[in-house]
Amino acid sequence: MADKSQGLSQDFVHLARVALSERGQDIQAFLHRVARKRRDVDPQLAQDIIALLREAPTRSSPLRRSVEAAIPVDTDSRFQLLRVEANPEMPHEPVYFGEVRQTLDRLVEERRRVTDLFEAGLQPTRTVLFTGPPGVGKTLAARWIARELGKPLLILDLSAVMSSYLGRTGANLRHVLDYAKALDCVLLLDELDTIAKRRDDAGEIGELKRLVTVLLQQLDDWPSTGLLIAATNHSELLDPAIWRRFEQPLDFPLPTKEGINVFIQSLLEGKIQKSIEWSKVLSIIFYGKSYSEIEREINLARRSAALKGINLEAQLPEILRMSTRSKDDQIQLAIDLVTFGFASQRKAHELTGVARDTIRSRSNHDIQVI
Ligand SMILES: Nc1ncnc2c1ncn2[C@@H]1O[C@H](COP(=O)(O)OP(=O)(O)OP(=O)(O)O)[C@@H](O)[C@H]1O
Ligand SMILES: [Mg+2]
Repeated sequence: MADKSQGLSQDFVHLARVALSERGQDIQAFLHRVARKRRDVDPQLAQDIIALLREAPTRSSPLRRSVEAAIPVDTDSRFQLLRVEANPEMPHEPVYFGEVRQTLDRLVEERRRVTDLFEAGLQPTRTVLFTGPPGVGKTLAARWIARELGKPLLILDLSAVMSSYLGRTGANLRHVLDYAKALDCVLLLDELDTIAKRRDDAGEIGELKRLVTVLLQQLDDWPSTGLLIAATNHSELLDPAIWRRFEQPLDFPLPTKEGINVFIQSLLEGKIQKSIEWSKVLSIIFYGKSYSEIEREINLARRSAALKGINLEAQLPEILRMSTRSKDDQIQLAIDLVTFGFASQRKAHELTGVARDTIRSRSNHDIQVI
């Protein structure tokens, strides 16, 4: 152990120094040196570092480098048209259920076993359309797919490109699509509705029509080597011709109570003791909200708890005061609070407004049923 740690702290300090100066090449060169130096004393560490270096964009990784080197730009402004995530990462694992889960798994499986498909004379799905309200994981799903496949994710945010360069958007879109077509990547056209408006839209102008035409052509021609994903939360604005062009439409609904429960558990796990029970209670409160709204509420509670210097567990009841819900949910909530030992009958009445008699009789009834 003493051998292993020898010199490690100096290396660490040196690494911190180079990292803080943000010189990517120097960080990589130094890590190579450390890996070589440590190969004999700590083979595992050396192996881990080498694995990290392999994933990072470097000269020895031509695909990733070419992705980063030649990102298309707007000819006049030199504004980059694409955001590139060479190694897509997520703040936490996404939660998907039912059809969404199955379809995402299948899309990944198709790519992993593409030779089986080719042998059967088939091609993997090339174009996918994600629809659904804001904050339910559409952008996240594109990132997840790219990560699972170990491919870079290229994101074209159409609302950003459109707002600044409407006059040249047709050329820019073609430029980006041609570029992405030639790479082994996942391309996400985010906020697709910005261009894919219905043709009978009163405000539509010639440029928008041209854009739709470019998009329709490209969707038909998209190669099976690439995966094109488009996302929108205004599917009703899409031209039906565009809908039809996508091989796989996929609707992301608002989370179910089960989905919320699993999601909150993942957010609270390790941060409070009774994470399972709290997740159940909060899934009643948050029903009807999106994942991102729920995450925001939980983060808000974490911040408040930290500022007050109290446990998150002591802050969570505050969330109960804020929300509105149906009478049945209100009663269920009051009973859960008492059953899980989070509140006395009086406190549960205060937090939910349910009469103490109702709580008493229903809690007793529930216990007898169990
Ligand atoms: N299914 C999910 N599982 C876990 N976290 C999620 C999920 N959906 C959303 N989130 C959280 O909410 C954030 C926003 O999600 P995302 O950007 O994917 O939403 P979106 O559906 O693309 O919304 P918009 O239509 O507004 O672009 C994510 O970064 C993540 O933290
Ligand atoms: Mg999005």
